[in-house]
Amino acid sequence: MTQQLSFVILSTGLETFRELRGALSTQEGARVLAGGDDAEQVFPEIERLRPSAVIVAFGSTPENELRFVERVARECPQTAVICASRDSSSDLILRSLRAGAREFLRLPVNAEEFKTVYRRTAEFCAVRPEAPKKRGRVLAVFSSKGGTGTTFIATNVAAALGAPTVLVDLNLQAGDLGLFLGLEPKFSIAELVENRDRVDDSLLRSYLAPHSANLSLLAAPREADSADDIEPEHVFQVLEILRERHEYVVIDPQHTFDAITLAALDQSDEILLVLTLDIPAIRSTQRALQIFDRLGYPRHKIHIVVNRFSKQIDLDLRQVERYLGERVMGYVQSDYKTAVNSINLGQPLVASDPASRIATELRQIAARFSRAAQEAPVTDARRGLLGSFFRRDKPAAKETVTKEAVSDQLSAVG
Ligand SMILES: Nc1ncnc2c1ncn2[C@@H]1O[C@H](COP(=O)(O)OP(=O)(O)OP(=O)(O)O)[C@@H](O)[C@H]1O
Ligand SMILES: [Mg+2]
Repeated sequence: MTQQLSFVILSTGLETFRELRGALSTQEGARVLAGGDDAEQVFPEIERLRPSAVIVAFGSTPENELRFVERVARECPQTAVICASRDSSSDLILRSLRAGAREFLRLPVNAEEFKTVYRRTAEFCAVRPEAPKKRGRVLAVFSSKGGTGTTFIATNVAAALGAPTVLVDLNLQAGDLGLFLGLEPKFSIAELVENRDRVDDSLLRSYLAPHSANLSLLAAPREADSADDIEPEHVFQVLEILRERHEYVVIDPQHTFDAITLAALDQSDEILLVLTLDIPAIRSTQRALQIFDRLGYPRHKIHIVVNRFSKQIDLDLRQVERYLGERVMGYVQSDYKTAVNSINLGQPLVASDPASRIATELRQIAARFSRAAQEAPVTDARRGLLGSFFRRDKPAAKETVTKEAVSDQLSAVG
């Protein structure tokens, strides 16, 4: 099969541009994608189109073109640079090569020499290293007990990450993430699984329901029947496809340790383990932590988030941390009216009511996972509430949650 090569041409003279385009038209598989005489306009085209090669034709003073060659070689290493000039002095050839050009073409074009330059460019393109694939982070927002607010937190954390993010509804039988985002998705994970072997960027885009510039949804199947065809290895493949094209993949899985959920949790970089401060939820969280230990998940992958927190009625967070042997990474106050309003609006709270207290708490949780935020110093989300407590060491002892122990705590708090 003929190798396809694409070109962009920078040339100050129209004649030279035509000459180069004419020479390329003699080569099977060559395509000229764009051309121009202004380096400032041509450069973004190179970044956008990612051609196989750019031909830079020198004018009477080559300094500007040499700077352009340096810039392309530095910032677009996948694109080969060919310099073309009527001045073929050894000085200019050397300066071109030093600036990063792979080939030097003398003008006017000599057909034999052009063929050689073209062949050598094709060889470079055939062996050039693949651009490293993106590897977005996968965050699962999990609770082994229903109704703790995982869908609410997943939606808001995803919306607050501030980078291309896809939310994945892994409640395959009865997912309701579309409602939380005010979307009626046409397609779902079922279609993506069905076509996973031929998926490209545009096909993937058609399966995702866009919510905002940075957030889209991969919905649960509309028909519960099609969920039966989805196997754990499909989940693995789907998450790979998504993380190659997004900065973050946020998963809202079921509340059980079924094979689909385990496939997702295995592949997650971070698990936000959500609980409310009641005895059944604390027990269930303790069991989930034991299961994670047995599965060999490192503890740094698990982040405990307390939802529906209320200072008046809840247990002392410190005691809960001692029971769980894990620190609480973030908490969200109980505010039913605000939470339900945003859900009924079909908008993440961080967008519909960004000034509310729980929106701030949700943003603080998201900030701990956002790469940009990690590069900047992060203020501790919990400092306001718990002061110096969070500066102490991680609790060492693991205690079993018993009703008695919790009641003791409740009376201590009360
Ligand atoms: N911080 C909060 N304060 C008050 N109410 C909340 C809070 N977070 C969530 N809720 C409410 O809790 C209910 C359950 O939330 P959500 O559907 O997110 O939970 P879930 O864990 O995903 O439940 P499911 O078992 O259905 O998957 C919703 O009505 C939501 O409004
Ligand atoms: Mg849910």
